[in-house]
Amino acid sequence: MAAFNFFKLSILLSLLSNSHFGVWSETKQSKGISPPSCSRIECPSYDVIHVGSGYEIRRYNSTVWTSTSPIQDISLVEATRNGFLQLFDYIQGKNNYEEQIEMTAPVIAEISPSDGPICESSFVVSFYVPKVNQADPPPAKGLHVQRWKPVYAAVRQFSGFVADSDVGEEAAALQASLDGTIWSAAIEKSHGSNHTSVYTVAQYNSPFEFDDRVNEIWMLFDIKDDFTM
Ligand SMILES: *[C@@H]1O[C@H](CO)[C@@H](O)[C@H](O)[C@H]1NC(C)=O
Ligand SMILES: *[C@@H]1O[C@H](CO)[C@@H](O)[C@H](O)[C@H]1NC(C)=O
Repeated sequence: MAAFNFFKLSILLSLLSNSHFGVWSETKQSKGISPPSCSRIECPSYDVIHVGSGYEIRRYNSTVWTSTSPIQDISLVEATRNGFLQLFDYIQGKNNYEEQIEMTAPVIAEISPSDGPICESSFVVSFYVPKVNQADPPPAKGLHVQRWKPVYAAVRQFSGFVADSDVGEEAAALQASLDGTIWSAAIEKSHGSNHTSVYTVAQYNSPFEFDDRVNEIWMLFDIKDDFTM
């Protein structure tokens, strides 16, 4: 079984591999690129509603995720690995329907401050449920389904392997690039209510791929009807 899983992971690896893309330029306004793995595997669709310097604003209409329970850890990398393994078993058929599910991207980790000992954070790691499974995602022990209403995301892309030391810096850079914009105010408002995670890290590549990796920091928020753009 382990060998079989490894074989599947190798396929996943080759599916996700790609050799040509550019991460956004930070110096000029440019339209963000769709992560390259999304030309090979299913990703949630979105509309780009604004492109700023170093960030873009997307709207995701409605997405369905299968999520782990909150994982308390000091390390995003460790928590994501732990969560990814649970979700990988899930798509391999370790669910109540014994159903295999196609791999998708991204795998996201929502990060919230934890009530636990100082320095720990709480991570919820989620797999994007393919459209074909969205009506009835297989339940599984220890996992739950999240159905997101339409939501906006301020997004910053970065490349390489996600390291704990980088994530805070990338999130801070995103926040700095949003500073003084209408988006910043909307994000702040949402954090008080519906989107309690501080930010989310979206990863589009398998852990075994070492080249041309793309990751994103998302800050999720709602826009009220009376919000003027
Ligand atoms: C999201 O919903 C709006 C309004 O119904 C629609 O115009 C738009 O095409 C949808 N976008 C995506 C990516 O599905
Ligand atoms: C939070 O979600 C509720 C229900 O969807 C919505 O009515 C409310 O406007 C949202 N809050 C904010 C700040 O957008």
